[in-house]
Amino acid sequence: MPSENSLDVLKRQFLCCYPLNLIDWKPLSNLTWEDQKLLIDCTHNNELNQKYPISSSYQLKFFKKLINHLEQSGVEIHDEIYEAFCNLNSQTTNDEKFSYKHYSLTYHDSVVTLKESKSFVADGTTGLCSWQASLALSDWLLHNTELVRGKSVIELGSGTGLCGFIVSKCCDAKHVILTDGSPKVIDILNTNRSLNFLPNTKDILSDDSKKCSILYLPWEECELVGTKKFDVVLAADVVYDSSEFDSLLGIIEHLFRLMENKVQMILAATVRNESTLRTFLDLLDSKEFIIEMQEAILEKRSYLFWDRSTPVQILKVTKNINLT
Ligand SMILES: C[S@@+](CC[C@H](N)C(=O)[O-])C[C@H]1O[C@@H](n2cnc3c(N)ncnc32)[C@H](O)[C@@H]1O
Repeated sequence: MPSENSLDVLKRQFLCCYPLNLIDWKPLSNLTWEDQKLLIDCTHNNELNQKYPISSSYQLKFFKKLINHLEQSGVEIHDEIYEAFCNLNSQTTNDEKFSYKHYSLTYHDSVVTLKESKSFVADGTTGLCSWQASLALSDWLLHNTELVRGKSVIELGSGTGLCGFIVSKCCDAKHVILTDGSPKVIDILNTNRSLNFLPNTKDILSDDSKKCSILYLPWEECELVGTKKFDVVLAADVVYDSSEFDSLLGIIEHLFRLMENKVQMILAATVRNESTLRTFLDLLDSKEFIIEMQEAILEKRSYLFWDRSTPVQILKVTKNINLT
């Protein structure tokens, strides 16, 4: 019998489509008939998956792997597992463009449900799926909630909104503005906001949803920020294209100027290419920003599941207030 904890871990990994090669399948050896029923009920039959299904091709691969694993342990496989596998097999098509992912936290009741593209680049943008850096940044903020609790926060290049929604729902921020420069991303952000902050009447958005707004903000058009006030700037996986560095630096400088430097930025950068990141950090340095590397959250202390195969650096960026 797998422990309740290992079933809960598996459920959470399944619902956020955690890579199958990172799942620990060992506790699932020798599952009894009853255990297999518990497993199918908390994964495929889970009410979140029934209402907002995760990718059917992921589910298919998950059950294929599970069936192989159970067969190797010489266990009789539950009818409902075969049934789910066969149904998924007949439904799965390659043109499924969007599906859902459900990100739940170990210690918190909250779940963030997001509609996401299945491709890393879709409709000419990288913003329609969640990237590792936004999971790493969310995890870091969940361990450092004092930085955002009761504060106004603005996020640059929010993509599907994972980090901004987690900060809004689970870190007690006063207000979060999620921004992006792609109209397609703004559409998906609006969809995702309504998935996570349900209106309490037909026309009036609940108080929670008022805590979280969405703004079309291409970095080249700083003036669209208007006179908004904020204490913290967040950005995950925005440092990857050196042709965008001038505009990214421009918006960061603009935000710091607006707040007379009384603002902190937390930047999560996936280190795909060290020299690309170095170039951007040198640019920040040349404008007298102070950069402090933060300790990444160790896997065993993590509140979220994320793939650590490519390192993510968490950086605190500030300016000396006397420089205004
Ligand atoms: C790699 S995605 C990261 C999305 C999200 N932060 C995450 O980590 O999941 C980069 C995001 O930056 C946005 N972006 C890229 N260039 C931009 C620009 N010039 N102005 C505003 N947003 C931009 C993209 O639309 C996309 O949503």
